[in-house]
Amino acid sequence: PRIAIIVVAAGSGTRLGAGAPKALVGIGARSILHRALGNVFAAPSAQVVVVAPAGHEGEALTEARDAAPDRADLVTVVTGGASRQASVAAGLAALWGDVEIVLVHDAARALTPADVFERIVAAVAAGSAAVVPVLPVVDTLKRVSGGVVAGAVDRDELAAAQTPQGFRRDVLETAYRVADDEYTDDAALVAAAGHRVDTVRGDERAFKITTPADLERAARLVADGGE
Ligand code: CTP
Ligand code: MG
Repeated sequence: PRIAIIVVAAGSGTRLGAGAPKALVGIGARSILHRALGNVFAAPSAQVVVVAPAGHEGEALTEARDAAPDRADLVTVVTGGASRQASVAAGLAALWGDVEIVLVHDAARALTPADVFERIVAAVAAGSAAVVPVLPVVDTLKRVSGGVVAGAVDRDELAAAQTPQGFRRDVLETAYRVADDEYTDDAALVAAAGHRVDTVRGDERAFKITTPADLERAARLVADGGE
């Protein structure tokens, strides 16, 4: 396929503190990874690279087969690294030859709807080198120094970045090759390599499951949807 989606799922989930790698923790009856892949496979046919925690590659493959039995031949499982960036790099090394567009997605954003993937793919197919889904910031923001408000921040200039983030394959591969630092996300790494990063509308449901409260929120949303 022309498109690949790298799903990074190799984190330990320290802040969630569930006693298992976060991607294998349940939201109701299905794991975070299973739910994430269900939405990934709803997108147009793509190679799906699951970056799994070391020692859990077999479980990751089982979850992928279970999430989309008829797409199992499109799934590659690789072992993650010590940082998210190292895990993405491991995923990049597993891309098939014909892939031209690469999306990088956090398994922890398990409830991201398929149409976000579609918006990202459409933007890259239309010529963007890099594109991220964003949401407006709703809170009133302050710059704080030493516990004292040091100034206001103009909310209109800010946005919250989500995943999947999409890239031209050559742009992402080159940016990873020359990266000499740890970046907060793939868009920052690609921007550091000199590329413009475009935006599309994100989605509330693409929030990242980080804390126990986030997991409860996800479980409520899934229960409300009858799953
Ligand atoms: N990730 C990864 N490899 C790592 C670290 C993170 O593949 N070495 C992935 C996680 O699995 C997750 C995404 O990157 O899907 C975002 O990371 P985060 O939410 O920070 O997950 P964890 O690192 O697992 O959580 P924590 O930081 O609380 O330990
Ligand atoms: Mg982390």
